[in-house]
Parts: sequence; C-alpha cells; structure tokens
Amino acid sequence: MNIAVFISGTGTNLKALLDAQKDNYFKSKIVEVVSNKNAAGLNFAREFGIDTLVSKDDSEIIDRLREKKVDLIVLAGFLPKVSEKIINEFTIINIHPSLLPKYGGKGFYGIHVHEKVFENMEKESGATVHYVNENLDDGDIILQRKVDISDCKSAQDIANKVLKIEHGILKDAIKKLEEI
Ligand code: GAR
Repeated sequence: MNIAVFISGTGTNLKALLDAQKDNYFKSKIVEVVSNKNAAGLNFAREFGIDTLVSKDDSEIIDRLREKKVDLIVLAGFLPKVSEKIINEFTIINIHPSLLPKYGGKGFYGIHVHEKVFENMEKESGATVHYVNENLDDGDIILQRKVDISDCKSAQDIANKVLKIEHGILKDAIKKLEEI
C-alpha cells in the first residue's frame, strides 16, 4: 500500500512508522506526509526524504494523493476534522490515545484525553486504531491495546505511557491491514 501520513504536531507516531518502514516491519511505503500547518513533525519526513505537503485545501491535498497513488491515509495526531470529500475517496485510519469508545469524540484529543482519564482515576488506559468515518472517533476498531496506569501521578505520566503503546500499535495496524 502507498501510505500518506497526516500530522499536526510533534510527529512521534510518524517517526515510529518511518523507523518501522526502515526496518521492513511492513511492506507498505509512506509516500507523502501532509500537515495542516508547519508542524514540527514534518522534519522527521524530511530526514527520511519523504515528500511533504502543508495545506488546508482539500482539492490540492486530493490531487497530491491521487498523483502519489495513495491507498491509505493514516491520521497520526492530525487534529482538524477530515472533510467528507477526502473520506469518500480514501480509506483512512486514525490513532486515538484512549480505549475507545471511552474518552472519544468532541474535545477529546491529545492531553485533554489523559486529563479526563486522570481525573476519573482510571486504572488502565491505552490506544486505539480505528477506521475514520464522518463521525469523530466512531469508525470500526482495527486494534486496541491496554496499559496499566495505576502508578501514574499526572495526566502527563499517562500520556507518556500511552504514547509508547501508540508507537507499537500503529505499525501493527498497518501490518494487519496488509493481511486483509
Ligand atoms: C497522539 O497521542 C495521538 O494519539 C493524538 O495526538 C498525539 C500526537 O502525537 N491524537 C489525537 O488525540 C486524535 N484525536 P505525535 O504528534 O507525537 O504523534
């Protein structure tokens, strides 16, 4: 599969995928990294010699994805809602830092997820990779992995633990999709 990774921030999930690709962990190829802004994570793409596109223009994005024959879009910390135009044309998966359906939907992104999990004194959290449909954090689940957070003293502690899980589960999800 030709993959486009969409990011908005630090890009550690993107980095995990780039490392996995380098190690031949999966057969797919990351052919483009797209961001809605000048995200720090774009530097990982540049280091690996992957083309990048910074754009909020759906038509420009779609043209680029068609040109690169993209089969799969991976949202890796991409924060804007993906437009219906893109959803209708491409298969899209997303990584979310909670055990969906818990802590998903409007307002649940990044550290805000972990703040709520911490406030609710949850004993476990985790990460979910799911298909993207028109409703936020709602598509079918591809993979989910749990982590014990009973020793975490802050939302940031939880974030750190969950992020490690994310880096494993995202590359595993791609491998799983290649086998379907
Ligand atoms: C990750 O924790 C990802 O799960 C989350 O943003 C972070 C991006 O980190 N995504 C969402 O909350 C989407 N709802 P990264 O830029 O270091 O990969």
